[in-house]
Amino acid sequence: MKDFNGKNAVITGAASGIGYALAEKLAKEGMNIVLADIEQEALETAVEKISEHGVETLGVKTNVMQKNEVEHLFKESIKAFDKVHFLCNNAGVASTVLAHGIWELDDKDWEWVLGVNFYGTLYGLQSFVPHMIKHNEEGHVLNTISLAGILPGEAIYGVSKHAALALSESLWQGLRNARSNIGASVLCPGFVNTNIIESNRNRPDHLTSKNKTNFILKKLASTVLKRGKEPDDIADVTLDAIKNHHFYILPHTSYDEMIKERYSRILARTEPQTADMQEILKGTLMGDKGEW
Ligand SMILES: NC(=O)c1ccc[n+]([C@@H]2O[C@H](COP(=O)([O-])OP(=O)(O)OC[C@H]3O[C@@H](n4cnc5c(N)ncnc54)[C@H](O)[C@@H]3O)[C@@H](O)[C@H]2O)c1
Repeated sequence: MKDFNGKNAVITGAASGIGYALAEKLAKEGMNIVLADIEQEALETAVEKISEHGVETLGVKTNVMQKNEVEHLFKESIKAFDKVHFLCNNAGVASTVLAHGIWELDDKDWEWVLGVNFYGTLYGLQSFVPHMIKHNEEGHVLNTISLAGILPGEAIYGVSKHAALALSESLWQGLRNARSNIGASVLCPGFVNTNIIESNRNRPDHLTSKNKTNFILKKLASTVLKRGKEPDDIADVTLDAIKNHHFYILPHTSYDEMIKERYSRILARTEPQTADMQEILKGTLMGDKGEW
């Protein structure tokens, strides 16, 4: 997608972090923005701030886990702006980093994290893409994934992001087969300085987990995130990549060797590289990678 000015974007998880930075970046390009988020108060503040860029804005409280709420978001977006050109499925949560075996994790963690990160993305595609294809104007779908969707490990979060990446690759193929005017990209950052470590703030009560928080890991992760890239930098790289028709957007380059190692191990038919979260976090803190 090359021409953003005067077109309309919908962004989920737009009240904080990467979603908010993308909203600001697209508003600066002259796009009208529908901001969707589960957190009402933060959403209202975000809508107010984005409207200061002189574009039309709308906030729609949405829980992307619920298909009917995403369909409602679609209806409200069309009511306000007639057409949607840019969809960003960005809302995401990370379950508490745990030192358990995957078989021990609570079903409620699975339901919540897959519900937001995978099903939220799927419902976004189901609700918006048919309309975007039908109106036939240039458009784009951006799904926020993570390096956790490419590398092994990270338990439920990793599973949800691998699934969302596979979904996005199928989306890309489908849009191509349909000879549509819609591009697609996946944003796969490493650590970014956002509020994701506080994801539990948006966790539905009925999905409270019985697994205990590992506070040492949470503290380590929060320190690492604070030293991650800034959301604004991620938004800059993302927009440039979309303008240049890139599907895979990897703003961090310091993990390239780990990605190469993953695929060389698969081709060598050996074993996965180890992915002990505590070791990765400690290594990231102590390492001198220059950028995370
Ligand atoms: N921060 C990182 O290091 C990092 C790295 C890679 C990928 N990501 C991905 O980036 C995306 C944005 O996360 P962030 O880091 O900006 O975190 P964040 O917590 O700052 O922002 C996430 C937003 O999503 C919203 N949200 C949560 N559950 C929702 C739901 N059910 N329905 C609608 N909105 C919901 C939150 O209210 C919040 O505004 C996520 O998909 C995340 O997995 C983050």
